[in-house]
Amino acid sequence: MRKLTALLLVVILVMAAFPVAVTAQEPEIKCFTDEEATVVVAAGAVGQELELTRAGAERFMEACPNITVTVLETPDMVQDRLGFYLQLFEAQSGDVDVFQIDVIWPGDLAEHLIDLTPYLTEEEIAAHFPAIIQNNTVDGALVGIPWFTDAGLLYYRTDLLEKYGFDAPPATWDELTEMAQVIQDGERAAGNAEFWGFVWQGNAYEGLTCDALEWQYSESDTQIVNPETGEIEVNNEATIAAFERAASWVGTISPDGVTSYAEEDARAVWQAGNAAFMRNWPYAYSLGNADDSPIKGLFDVAPLPFGASGHGAATLGGWQLAVSKYSKNPDAAAAVAVYLASAAEQKIRAVEGSFNPTIMSLYEDEEVLAAAPFFGSLYDVFINAVARPSTLSAPNYNAVSTAYFTAVHSILTGEQDAAVALELLELDLADLLGK
Ligand code: GLC
Repeated sequence: MRKLTALLLVVILVMAAFPVAVTAQEPEIKCFTDEEATVVVAAGAVGQELELTRAGAERFMEACPNITVTVLETPDMVQDRLGFYLQLFEAQSGDVDVFQIDVIWPGDLAEHLIDLTPYLTEEEIAAHFPAIIQNNTVDGALVGIPWFTDAGLLYYRTDLLEKYGFDAPPATWDELTEMAQVIQDGERAAGNAEFWGFVWQGNAYEGLTCDALEWQYSESDTQIVNPETGEIEVNNEATIAAFERAASWVGTISPDGVTSYAEEDARAVWQAGNAAFMRNWPYAYSLGNADDSPIKGLFDVAPLPFGASGHGAATLGGWQLAVSKYSKNPDAAAAVAVYLASAAEQKIRAVEGSFNPTIMSLYEDEEVLAAAPFFGSLYDVFINAVARPSTLSAPNYNAVSTAYFTAVHSILTGEQDAAVALELLELDLADLLGK
């Protein structure tokens, strides 16, 4: 009996020292090939993107040791990244196998990408937001597996709103303009000469197309191209007013340099504690709350303000994983894409990097919601985000967007009068869209 008790005790002690690892719900990782292969992934590097993708690649290689994955850093700015991709595609190069592609690119890039449907079960496809699957399906081929989705958000400093007597974030753009000025004046008077009211993306690039579409749609209820009628809608009084208001921010509540800001430039000012408000994507949330962040716990996110239309607007963004038609190892490449976009990886990226999953069930996952509570509270913003006219204008979306942000940029810098710029833009777009 004594022996038995002693034995039991040993068993209990051993069990306590080596707790059973939780592996039960881990899905099986599919390698799709037993051959040795190398897969190069062209990935984004905004915020924590690159390190999270590299960590995911390591996890994949543990499960599929015959496949070596190299993650390549690509330029932050969307048009630069697209230029790099197009060079490879035009040369029909097999140097990169997997491409991180923007939600606006499936139509423009489909001809260079393989159909990934055969690598996914119906259930795996149905787990994603249907609208993104539809966006990524070109002529019946699924050319990108949804990886994360994005929508424009308003970041605001909770401590400063309280300090200046505001009890809620701004409901309208005019309110934002006023609040930003009050807080900026106060903080400067208190000795912070570097402080700004509002930072956003004003450089002449895709990010400005996103910000400007939010200003336009919320003010005028019109879009670049009407998604139902195909009509070009950029030239109207309310849109002129929206862009004039944005131009009035430059050098007042926003730094002059905002007209050369991309996402990370805005975040740098914001995260240093030098801005009251920021327009940015969800990725800035977890970075702002990191242990070394001066604004940790001092901010929150809200929907972007309403304009005269009586509603707000958030531009739909997001990224997919695609496999090049010129890849020498399409099966291995597909295995990498499928794994990186799987629920397991999307969950890690949501928790560690506040990247919005495209897999719907993760919006009910407790750990995800604890790390990024706004995934739940702002769920409507994510599912109602306004799309850029990429499907409508494919394969010329990039030209359409370039014309749009170039016109808006010229208004922001004061180079052109808004009414003139939008009249010319309307003509340019008509040309591009063959109207
Ligand atoms: C984000 C969005 C992407 C958009 C880009 C613009 O990365 O996810 O869709 O094109 O920002 O800078």
